[in-house]
Amino acid sequence: MSINIFFAAGPALWPDYREPLARACREAGLDVTVSDSAPDPSAVDYIVFAPGGVIEDFGPYANAKAVLNLWAGVEKIAPNPTLTQPLCRMVDPAMTEGMVEYVTGHVMRHHLGMDAHILGQDGIWRNDVMPPIARERRVTVLGLGELGAAAARMLAALRFQVSGWSRTQKDIPDVDCLSGEAGLAEALRRAEILVTLLPNTKATENILDAERLALMPEGAFIVNPGRGSLIDDEALLAALDAGRIAHATLDVFREEPLPPAHHYWAHPRVTVTPHIAAETRPASASRVVAENIRRGEAREPFLHLVDRTQGY
Ligand SMILES: NC(=O)c1ccc[n+]([C@@H]2O[C@H](COP(=O)([O-])OP(=O)(O)OC[C@H]3O[C@@H](n4cnc5c(N)ncnc54)[C@H](OP(=O)(O)O)[C@@H]3O)[C@@H](O)[C@H]2O)c1
Repeated sequence: MSINIFFAAGPALWPDYREPLARACREAGLDVTVSDSAPDPSAVDYIVFAPGGVIEDFGPYANAKAVLNLWAGVEKIAPNPTLTQPLCRMVDPAMTEGMVEYVTGHVMRHHLGMDAHILGQDGIWRNDVMPPIARERRVTVLGLGELGAAAARMLAALRFQVSGWSRTQKDIPDVDCLSGEAGLAEALRRAEILVTLLPNTKATENILDAERLALMPEGAFIVNPGRGSLIDDEALLAALDAGRIAHATLDVFREEPLPPAHHYWAHPRVTVTPHIAAETRPASASRVVAENIRRGEAREPFLHLVDRTQGY
């Protein structure tokens, strides 16, 4: 009998996924019916979901074996009290590549001080500053999951002095891995450039508050492609105004789109990017979804299961 997949990630994404999802399931040897509507919720075997999707009450989908989220971040769906099915988040190799490139590009911008030359073409030949090299620069990555670990590895391959911090202790070659409250303080003290790739959970809300920002070296840089909720905005603006933080490159915000009147837009020490650090790619993401459906049917453990007690 055909496996019923309900694509509930919203009408905007359906045209992008319709073909790739059907193809990926075929290639995985699955006989599926993929539809963007579910006339009989009790007949749905798997739900493909994304924030802004078309289900609020998962109760009627009592026979669904899993909800497969197309986003890496699950803060919008994980707290849904009607969700009793296993929830899997997206780990898409193409999205990881995109994130590594975003992080590397923006870290390099700040490390090399590229703005001085890109924005400063004023006819004055200034060559009196020794150009920096990565092995003399300390970079910290908060969050050593799929994305943070990949970014940390790339930065280490470029020979930055990389520290990383996560909830549980990690062991990554050429990355000084820290954990725990004391580990966070040490990681921030070393952060001449700080990259934040933590999820949005109760425990990470405002993790970069005034006190923690004050631990960072004078003139440090921040690159935040994680979540807006990680940063106390008022504290960051105060640190930027004081010049204690030299620049913040921010991709994610508490309110998105970032309202036009928000101080971040006009701040000379802030670069706003519109949540474009990395995006799920339909072809590769469909293969991940298909593999999880194959696993569900074979009664094998799902990949990328969300621990809903931790919220990520
Ligand atoms: N801007 C964009 O375009 C974009 C795109 C995709 C994702 N994202 C964001 O990136 C985030 C990370 O994605 P991911 O795939 O790397 O997630 P992940 O694999 O779940 O990794 C999360 C990392 O954060 C750590 N962590 C979580 N809570 C913590 C806490 N309270 N204290 C210390 N460390 C904590 C985890 O520690 P453990 O390893 O010990 O569990 C893990 O290392 C997503 O949640 C999303 O918000 C942004």
